[in-house]
Amino acid sequence: AHIPVLCIDGPTASGKGTVAAAVAQQLGYALLDSGALYRITALAAVQAGIDIAPAHEAALADLARTLPVRFADGRIWLASADVTDAIRTEAMGMNASRISALPAVRAALVDLQHGFARLPGLVADGRDMGTVIFPQAPLKVFMTASAACRAERRHQQLLAKGIDANIDALRADLEARDLQDQSRKVAPLKPAQDALLLDNSGLTIDETVAQVIVWWEERQ
Ligand code: C5P
Repeated sequence: AHIPVLCIDGPTASGKGTVAAAVAQQLGYALLDSGALYRITALAAVQAGIDIAPAHEAALADLARTLPVRFADGRIWLASADVTDAIRTEAMGMNASRISALPAVRAALVDLQHGFARLPGLVADGRDMGTVIFPQAPLKVFMTASAACRAERRHQQLLAKGIDANIDALRADLEARDLQDQSRKVAPLKPAQDALLLDNSGLTIDETVAQVIVWWEERQ
């Protein structure tokens, strides 16, 4: 059967993860957090003591292809370990960005990502959902927000966890990661030709979710 896919791509801390989860919930669709797959691969590499470098591309791709990953009840498991929190650090985000620049690693994760599609539909969140993984998707949203706004949101998220990070350092980190994601040769971060741009700098999460749902309904 034909499975409808709604893609949400965009830079770091643009709110797309939160919005994708809310949209999936409202529509009763499955959710693919593709960034988590790169983060888990990076964590598995660190644990296996494999350097994240082009020289180890084949070994890293093997790791990605055989990843014993499981998503259940809002938690993420790598074999028998709950890695939900371990993969969310900014350091693991940067490792994920480095491992994701390796073409063989990206290729190794394609089938796993396609496997998330199921009826009645899928919301797919990442950097290349609309450009590479689900190019036939009827709706591709490219979500952005200003760098200042994204740094402020990340700052608030960390404060809520009791961590008082420096906002300028946070902004520098996320801009560095975006630059790395935009400038890689394979599947760089960029809007698909037929993507709709959604800058949510001045919007609440609810308003952003509502806009995506309106666009989705227009396509039904
Ligand atoms: O979205 P998240 O911050 O969890 O993604 C972590 C990293 O994984 C990104 O910075 C990017 O380098 C990589 N990624 C990717 N393609 C995707 C999703 C994430 O290259 N579809």
